[in-house]
Amino acid sequence: MAETYTLLAGHELRVEVEWSKQIFVTLKDGEAEIFGTSLLLGQKTTICGQKIAIFSWQGCVLEIEGTPEVIYVAEETPMAQYVNIHDVLHAQREAALSGGGAAPRVMLVGPSDSGKSTLCKILLNYAVRAGKGPVFADVDIGQGSLTVPGCLAACAVENPVDVEEGGFPGEPPVVFYYGGVSPSDNASLYKHCVERLAAVLEDRCKKDPAAAAAGMIVNSMGWVEGLGYELLLHSIETLKINTVLVVGQDRLHSQMNRSLSQKGITVVKAPKSDGVVLRSKEYRSDARRRRVEEYFYGIQKELHPASQNAKIDDLQVYKVGGGPKAPSTALPIGATSVSNPLKITKVSDLRETMFTMVAVSHAASPDLLVSSNVAGFIYVQDVDVDKGIVTYLAPKAGPLPSTLMLGGTYKTYLE
Ligand SMILES: Nc1ncnc2c1ncn2[C@@H]1O[C@H](COP(=O)(O)OP(=O)(O)OP(=O)(O)O)[C@@H](O)[C@H]1O
Ligand SMILES: [Mg+2]
Repeated sequence: MAETYTLLAGHELRVEVEWSKQIFVTLKDGEAEIFGTSLLLGQKTTICGQKIAIFSWQGCVLEIEGTPEVIYVAEETPMAQYVNIHDVLHAQREAALSGGGAAPRVMLVGPSDSGKSTLCKILLNYAVRAGKGPVFADVDIGQGSLTVPGCLAACAVENPVDVEEGGFPGEPPVVFYYGGVSPSDNASLYKHCVERLAAVLEDRCKKDPAAAAAGMIVNSMGWVEGLGYELLLHSIETLKINTVLVVGQDRLHSQMNRSLSQKGITVVKAPKSDGVVLRSKEYRSDARRRRVEEYFYGIQKELHPASQNAKIDDLQVYKVGGGPKAPSTALPIGATSVSNPLKITKVSDLRETMFTMVAVSHAASPDLLVSSNVAGFIYVQDVDVDKGIVTYLAPKAGPLPSTLMLGGTYKTYLE
């Protein structure tokens, strides 16, 4: 059953589709975009398991096939303010290219479900459409959009977001593996990953001044209180951010302004869209599992991962962290806990890696594991200690690029 919707200029059609269903969107007349990605006239776009807005600057006619859970037209949107932000960033990129100023290094901050990831997409898409592809870095280890959960990652954005697939077509991202979805488990490791990512991006900027002039857009996590706030400040400093966009929270905006304005960092408020949908804890956890599934199987199950066996002794899996620090009350007076949060230890019983993703590292030796980016992931399905065999899912059949690996703590159960 197909329904036709006519949008006036500046309106958007908000649509929510469950994972188990799909709908088809076709632009019949005029122009329209989904979070900054233009729709092509007459081309069908499949939407599955997403909450989206189809926005039109000039008005359009859309055909929707299928039955979404939610569908309505909104007349008020913050798109005009978003495009103003884009215009300022674009002018900064042009100026940077001609040596007249710093490239924009923007970080989006805001509580969970404020629309940070969405605004990142919009700004990245507008930048690419204007011929300037910035770097996109995602330091949200829980709901990151570049790769599996537990990672900090970055890529050069050369094409608009693929609406059906959700990702950025192009070179694979540079990925550092933190291994969990809560930065409080090992804040030092989280900071270390941010520092390593920053070093890679800095290096790229030195080698390619034109790319550097396009700047970067950084997505952050929704944890904005206490240690979460401290970690945001650490990322802002480490990634040499010069503009912080605070999405939809006055309190955070004023707090950030107080912390950063003396440092010459511009703190700007970006309005939150009424269309942003609150997601439950269960939805988030489900979304994380789906990301892992997508990594191995693809969105449309178009990939062919391989379940393979290896001898336990052939894999060298390490984990990071010196274990929990002893509380200061448990120590003799004057003593401090000596646990090293970046300490590497070999996992002696691989059963603890069951149902986790283990990163195949680019490191040349174990001591370089925490500082190296990763080539990809395997998912541990079974460990048979008696037979000395580990069974794992790999993106493709054949030998792994390395047997030196970094384990994580995030467990998820694939069907
Ligand atoms: N205008 C809109 N219309 C419909 N849905 C929207 C709109 N804007 C955002 N959404 C949806 O709302 C949800 C939350 O938005 P988003 O992921 O951008 O928030 P976030 O701040 O990044 O959250 P988190 O802190 O959890 O990462 C997403 O599913 C997104 O697709
Ligand atoms: Mg997000």
